[in-house]
Amino acid sequence: MTTMPKRLDPHSYADLTQARTGRVELDLLVDFATRTLAGTASLVFTAPAAGGPIDLDTRGLAITRVTDLGQQLLPFTLHPLEAGAEFLGQRLTVDAPAGTRGLIVTYRTSPDASALQWLNPEQTAGKKLPFLFSQCQAIHARSVAPLQDTPLARVTYAAKLTVPKELRALMGAGFLRREESAAQLSRDGLAGTLSGASATDVFEMPQPIPPYLLAFAVGDLAKHDLTARMAVWAEPSVLPKAAWEFEEIPEMMRAAEGLFGAYDWDRYDVLVMPPSFPYGGMENPRLTFATPSLLAGDRSLVNVIAHELAHAWTGNLVTNASANDFWLNEGFTVYAERRIVEAIAGRERSELQAALGRSHLADELGRFASRPEMTRLRTSLWGVDPDDVYSSVPYEKGYLFLRRLEELAGREKFDAFLKGYLKRFRFQSITTDDFLDELHKALPGVAHEANAAEWLDGQGLPGDAPLPHAPRLLMLRALSKQLGEGELPDAAELQSVALSPIELQLVLSELPAETSALRCEAIEKLFELGKKQSLELRVAWLEAALRAGTESALVPARAVLLETGRMKFLKPLYRQLARRPETKEFARRVFAEASGGYHPIAKAGLEAMLK
Ligand code: BES
Ligand code: ZN
Repeated sequence: MTTMPKRLDPHSYADLTQARTGRVELDLLVDFATRTLAGTASLVFTAPAAGGPIDLDTRGLAITRVTDLGQQLLPFTLHPLEAGAEFLGQRLTVDAPAGTRGLIVTYRTSPDASALQWLNPEQTAGKKLPFLFSQCQAIHARSVAPLQDTPLARVTYAAKLTVPKELRALMGAGFLRREESAAQLSRDGLAGTLSGASATDVFEMPQPIPPYLLAFAVGDLAKHDLTARMAVWAEPSVLPKAAWEFEEIPEMMRAAEGLFGAYDWDRYDVLVMPPSFPYGGMENPRLTFATPSLLAGDRSLVNVIAHELAHAWTGNLVTNASANDFWLNEGFTVYAERRIVEAIAGRERSELQAALGRSHLADELGRFASRPEMTRLRTSLWGVDPDDVYSSVPYEKGYLFLRRLEELAGREKFDAFLKGYLKRFRFQSITTDDFLDELHKALPGVAHEANAAEWLDGQGLPGDAPLPHAPRLLMLRALSKQLGEGELPDAAELQSVALSPIELQLVLSELPAETSALRCEAIEKLFELGKKQSLELRVAWLEAALRAGTESALVPARAVLLETGRMKFLKPLYRQLARRPETKEFARRVFAEASGGYHPIAKAGLEAMLK
């Protein structure tokens, strides 16, 4: 009997009529001299194969050998990149006889692996030892290992990472032990920073995860315990600051467990990454990766940690079936994040956060004017690289939709629905229709009343989208307008208003588009923005200033572009610089200077913008 090939995920060659991987075992040598991982990936099937081809995702992998679990060689084909779908990587087809229980692939990653950033010692806080980290979401796990790289194929895994003895590996998994290793690592090009001796760190991940949550970092890392099951990790010199900034994690955990049910992943740790980390945070299971730009010194940006913690339920426990339903991950998580923030910091704070989100959403909807289909919650991304269409739409429109449902159902009933939904679909990967079925069962009539079809499949924002409100919002908006085009307040006036960091962020991000360069300079002086530690504040101002063509913004903009690799900051600054012919060349020069320090994902995204 022949079955039709069946691809359910637009971003994977996996054919789920074939054998499915249920467990992965990695045994890899982490070689800083060649910037490669080399070794084996064993894929253990959930049931013996029926016989025939098995399709896997790969990107840039050099594959030397494929066998079954009993070391019998199997024939394989590594297909060329497909024209127009290069972003998918290369399909690897293995011919497996009936009864095959799994595959062992021997391979080496490429030095340009899209998930990996290899940092020289100078790019770390300590400046003495190199660092490596992965970022697998959206579709980069395939550059680390040959996999069925779709969230439809959840896997448990084991991993052995052989690393330079001076460093340690951390994974989004349970740490078992460090073993002696006889492997001698090459030291070429590392200028004597490493001895060449190695050790093997061994991990086990018993909870089944979608492959995009595979994660590791290798570096000079130290730990500060918050409780018996929660800790902050960072390079030693960053650790005290990180430990202080994130002290509220146990409180967040208490709030989250109250709202969403018991935490299912054993430990919860946060790892503060080097500045080049391309995102604010990444919800790797048991081990959130966080940008050091959250260390504002005033705990004003910890909502990002609340967000990544919330993913332990929304995203990691209940996962989108593919990027078409990405809003199930991010919209739910923004909703959950703001509930945690409300529980620990109060409603006013969470409403300001929501107002800021809504203001970003309005900007984003404007930018998608030429691609309005990307403003739907439920998307069709066949032929589209998910990194190319990453935006705040699934986050903030998704948030507003769930908030609308909460409004209609009432909080108590909505909370019960949420807990039931998380329980019903735990450790599963689901579509928007699965969500709708559960919604109909738990809260009959609410989807209809909310006009869910328009929210999910319509473009832009429905007219009845909820409006966040906080007592000071009107005043803050009036202040934005006044700063942009009215009479400037004096220092005493400002003092009496006493803006919190998030309020100032909102005021700056809502400055009218017409705000002049001269005005931008005055605003900078008024708030002493150049001296702010928070990149959120500096970038909110720089974006407005560059839009206005403020010449004095070029030097501080360049400094930001060299200081961080977080795309949330890089994109608006390069976008504004590229908009004006007189600064586009400047943008290209800064990019040439800075991009050696950016993660491959950030580099690729920005190159497209600066073409
Ligand atoms: N999972 C995302 C980051 C991500 C999304 C990486 C898609 C790659 C592809 C993470 O949870 C996230 O949303 N981070 C935000 C945090 C914010 C919304 C609070 C970020 O990085 O800014
Ligand atoms: Zn998220």
